Amino acid sequence: MSLTVTAMEPGHWPQVESIFRAGIETGHATFESAAPTWERFDASHLATHRVVALDDAVLDADVVLGWAAVSAVSAREVYAGVVEHSVYVSDAARGRGVGRALLESLVASTEAAGIWTIQSSVFPENVASLALHRALGFREVGRRQRIARMTHGELAGRWRDTVLLERRSAVVGR
Ligand SMILES: CC(C)(COP(=O)(O)OP(=O)(O)OC[C@H]1O[C@@H](n2cnc3c(N)ncnc32)[C@H](O)[C@@H]1OP(=O)(O)O)[C@@H](O)C(=O)NCCC(=O)NCCS
Repeated sequence: MSLTVTAMEPGHWPQVESIFRAGIETGHATFESAAPTWERFDASHLATHRVVALDDAVLDADVVLGWAAVSAVSAREVYAGVVEHSVYVSDAARGRGVGRALLESLVASTEAAGIWTIQSSVFPENVASLALHRALGFREVGRRQRIARMTHGELAGRWRDTVLLERRSAVVGR
C-alpha cells in the first residue's frame, strides 16, 4: 500500500493511542494493560526515532496506519547505543507492509544516529511480530521463561514467556 513514514507529532497521539489500545486487546502484543498518557509516552520514549506511517490515499488529513518508537534500555553511557522498540499497526492495515516500512525506517534512523542494537521482547504466540522481525534481520537471543504475569485479557493471571530479539547493526560500531 502507498504510505509515507514520517516523524510522530503530538497531534498524531489520539490515533497512535487508539492503535496501541487495539494492539493491547489482541492479548499478544504487550504485558501492559492500558495505553499510557501522551505525557508518559513522551517521557519514556526517545524524542528521536518516533515514527508514524501515514496513508497516502488520504491527502487532506493525517491517517495513521501504524507507529514505532524506541526507549533507552539503560542510563549507563556504555549502553547508549542500545534501544528497545515498539511497533504497532492498525487492525485494518496489518499484513500489508506497514510494519516492515516502520521498522525499516527505525533501523535507518537509529543507525544514522550511531545506535548499534535494537531489541524487543515478543510473545512466542505473536507469529506476525516474529515474522516481521526476522524479515528485518533480528535474531532470537533466547526465550525468557515465565518472565512476567499478564494482568489483562483472557490470559490474566498467567505467567508468560517472551522471546528476546535483537538486531545488531553491521555498520555501526564495527
Ligand atoms: C506485528 C505487526 C506490527 C506486524 O505488522 P504488519 O504491518 O502486519 O506486518 P507486514 O505486513 O509489514 O509484514 C512484515 C513481514 O511479516 C510477515 N507477516 C506479517 N504478518 C504475518 C502473519 N500473521 N503470519 C506470518 N507472517 C506474517 C509478512 O509476510 C512480512 O514478511 P515479508 O516482508 O518478508 O514478506 C502487526 O501485526 C501488529 O501491529 N500487531 C498488533 C500489535 C503487536 O503485536 N505489535 C508487536 C508487539 S511485539
